[in-house]
Amino acid sequence: MFSGRPESGEPTSRFFPGSPALQALLIQAIAFGLVLTVAYGMPVLTRFQLNLGIAAILQGVMAALLSRWRNMAPWWMPIQLVFPFAAIAVHAAHLPSWIFLVAFLLLAALFWTTFRTQVPYYPSTPVVWQAVADSLPQDRALRIIDVGSGFGGLAMRLAALRPDSTVEGVEVAPLPWCASAIRASLAHSKARFRRADYGQLHFGDYDVVFAYLSPAAMPALWRKARAEMRPGSLLLSCEFDVPGATPHFVKRASATARPLFGWRF
Ligand SMILES: C[S@@+](CC[C@H](N)C(=O)[O-])C[C@H]1O[C@@H](n2cnc3c(N)ncnc32)[C@H](O)[C@@H]1O
Repeated sequence: MFSGRPESGEPTSRFFPGSPALQALLIQAIAFGLVLTVAYGMPVLTRFQLNLGIAAILQGVMAALLSRWRNMAPWWMPIQLVFPFAAIAVHAAHLPSWIFLVAFLLLAALFWTTFRTQVPYYPSTPVVWQAVADSLPQDRALRIIDVGSGFGGLAMRLAALRPDSTVEGVEVAPLPWCASAIRASLAHSKARFRRADYGQLHFGDYDVVFAYLSPAAMPALWRKARAEMRPGSLLLSCEFDVPGATPHFVKRASATARPLFGWRF
């Protein structure tokens, strides 16, 4: 999903915002302005008029080209291209307006500050949970944290497998955090969840830090780990490695399974 170029390090300009989502929105607005200019200018200068379909194609193509010019990650191009058609289709469906509010609230509660963190929600699988459990030191009780714990599956599984240890999850988005707290309570799990940005934690308080984030988040995570993690502690990352930091081990349950990278401090 996030195999393209990380965007967090992209140069920003005074005109374009740093956040890719805001940049994409601004680009659509610019393309819309250009299409409006063409739509009003064309009948004055020629005998042709722009119809809605051609206007949508023009806007999509312009937005995709502007995104390319801005060096945005490759997945933005198709998104920008189809956005005007999606907007027209939704408008034509004459959906009741409350649907948009409910959809917006649900998506906001699930994805929250993804436009800033560039880490959307997608879950790891039980195969990964087992690889994490197998990577943990067995000779002592541990303090383990899942940074960006989503709906809490991994933390609850580790809490069940390692009753000697303390397992926590920290999650910035309200919906997954709330669901994980309720799940833990209903299942009488020892895993504890708090709603916060993991940037507020001190990694030195933990023996094991697990992350399943995105390529864009890895450089900052690595800087924080290097600055704060204690000797003897372990950083684990599902799927995403750190450019320029060779892991001490890589575990892969099968040829197609997501890798688990581990760095010992
Ligand atoms: C790819 S999901 C992984 C969920 C879970 N760890 C798992 O393995 O199934 C990443 C999660 O990290 C959360 N997240 C992203 N940035 C965060 C931050 N700075 N602090 C806390 N949570 C964050 C997202 O909201 C999302 O739920």
